[in-house]
Amino acid sequence: MEMLEQQRENWGSRGGFILAAVGSAVGLGNLWGFPYKIYSYGGGAFLIPYILAIFIIGIPMLAMEFSLGHFTQRSAPGAFGSANRKFEFVGWWSIILGFVIITYYPVILGYCFSFLWLSIKGIFNGGSLPWAQSGVEGVRKAEEFFYDTYLAHKPGSFSLGAIRWNIFVPLVVAWLSMYLCICKGVKLVGKIVWLTVPLPWLMLLILAVRGLTLEGSIEGLVFYLNPSWEKLAEPTTWRFAFGQVFFSLSLAFGVMVTYASFLHKKSDINNNAAIIGLSDFATSFVAGIAIFATLGGMAFATAKAGSYVPVDKVVSGGPGLAFVAFPYALAQLPYSAWFSFIFFFALVTLGIDSAFSITESILTSVVEKTRWSRSVVLIIMSFVGLLSGIVYTAAGGGLNWLGTIDDFINGTWGIAFVGLLECIVLGWIYRLDRLRVHANERSDFSFGKWWNYLIRIIIPIVLGTLFFWSMFDDFSDKGFFIKAEKFNIPNIVGLSVVAVAPILAIVLGIIGSPFQKTQNLKCVKGYTSGWAGLILALISTLLMVLLMTIALPIHLTQILTIVAVLSSLSALIMTNYCLDNCDIAGNRASASARIGGIVAILNISVIAALTLIRLNNYVKDNGKFTAADIPKELTGVSYIILGVVSLLIIGGLGWCFYKAIVASGKQEQTPQLPQE
Ligand code: PHE
Repeated sequence: MEMLEQQRENWGSRGGFILAAVGSAVGLGNLWGFPYKIYSYGGGAFLIPYILAIFIIGIPMLAMEFSLGHFTQRSAPGAFGSANRKFEFVGWWSIILGFVIITYYPVILGYCFSFLWLSIKGIFNGGSLPWAQSGVEGVRKAEEFFYDTYLAHKPGSFSLGAIRWNIFVPLVVAWLSMYLCICKGVKLVGKIVWLTVPLPWLMLLILAVRGLTLEGSIEGLVFYLNPSWEKLAEPTTWRFAFGQVFFSLSLAFGVMVTYASFLHKKSDINNNAAIIGLSDFATSFVAGIAIFATLGGMAFATAKAGSYVPVDKVVSGGPGLAFVAFPYALAQLPYSAWFSFIFFFALVTLGIDSAFSITESILTSVVEKTRWSRSVVLIIMSFVGLLSGIVYTAAGGGLNWLGTIDDFINGTWGIAFVGLLECIVLGWIYRLDRLRVHANERSDFSFGKWWNYLIRIIIPIVLGTLFFWSMFDDFSDKGFFIKAEKFNIPNIVGLSVVAVAPILAIVLGIIGSPFQKTQNLKCVKGYTSGWAGLILALISTLLMVLLMTIALPIHLTQILTIVAVLSSLSALIMTNYCLDNCDIAGNRASASARIGGIVAILNISVIAALTLIRLNNYVKDNGKFTAADIPKELTGVSYIILGVVSLLIIGGLGWCFYKAIVASGKQEQTPQLPQE
């Protein structure tokens, strides 16, 4: 397939692109989302799947999205559509989920604007902040201020009260700022991010150091870095850790595909993906240190006052965490009003570039499809986004709705499923190796064939397992749909939102489009191995259906399970081999090979999920974990985690920059090609 030639806007420079992509990735997700997910779902246990997901899924998929966007020079729907018109819906699906995020993300940004405004007022009021109070009262005050005074929040309630104007007005400000940032196109975005990325990092470092110097901070760090193994057996820990990686890297929302479509023709892809993934991880990790050290300090303050509350209970978890812990931490600094001002300014700048990256990708996709005027679409979209966001500004249950929708989008039902689909479509239907070669040709370092196998086999199996695991877990929970004889409205609404997305996406994909089918392949090959693979995969499916519906003696069940796994694995090996060979020769693999591979992946995922459920039940029945088991000091495992993370981040980034420098040196020596 030839690269689609088209005059397209460009980022100003490599730095401009990296910063814009980092700007999209690093956002409220790192400072607001990451800590609260850890606090709610598993403490230190969360970090293990999170780190695994960054390296096994995050960075390789980032490179995949960059390569796809750059190769096709299209936003997500166009990029998937250019492989095959039938798959345009995958792009739309991710764009629609992005739209759901853009209904609530600016609300959180609005909270930041409010705190910024209060800090400015504080500066003029002789430095007093409305949430600050000395001593143990400060802990309660910070919480009271956010939940009661600011939000008028009712814990556990989903009823919507009156609109809170003190949230609505900052929401309008957030949308206006986003609008102003992108109405001038991506060149300006490339410039704005030179400020919006470095400043928050500086502030975060200050808060981390302050947090660590608070008395009692170690208790928070123990919570953060000490995995409780039992939590690792729970699907929620894994699904939210994986979901958080997608959210935090802006992966599978169409954003990175779109951003890469604006890259210069010769720009690096692999190294950029690694730099962006590692920087995002570094930011979250440091934010975690800042928040958890502070929570440790808060727990210590309660102990000192004689009413000790442990770290995991010292503030209420959920999406409000950052707006209690950070303000408290800031109030502990000298010149707190000034520091608050700088911090919330940084938070606002950090959030804006993430928020407008979503708007930009929706905008580009719609404009590409319809050829409508960019400025008109932008205005309409901003209005629709703003109006939909009003739900979350309601008193009572606004924040709870925000948390629920966020959970559904970022859990396995939403984005991880789209991620799975992306890998399956690109791995089994597209010529994946073409994307790898395209990326390698212009990158500071190359990805080997292992990358194909990650995208085609490993990631789909991991995400597929996670999907089925969570599905079985949710549906085995009797209260998921009906609780206490009443409909469980939040779950039903959340599920409907994620279910409407694919339907709408398919409709959008079907509606006429300017794209043609552009795959230009020689001929279809690989019938024999394809059919053999497909038959094996189907045998395995049949066995599984049998096993799930008929109660057989235990040893027969075990033998049949092993046969099912083996036949799926052989199907996978055969079909993968067939695709590999076709890729190299520029042929198209037979449909039987592709369908066989996909069926085999689904089989293995279901078996893995069922095995994990068993394991989970076993742990539940046999575990004797109690609060007394939480150690008071950092243990060997925590030090190992700390060491590994530091090494990965510092060593990894060092290596990436070294590669970039070596590559730019080489480029200077070779004569410049004429500019295309
Ligand atoms: N990655 C952003 C953050 O961490 C949020 C985001 C999600 C941006 C999805 C774009 C797409 O805050």
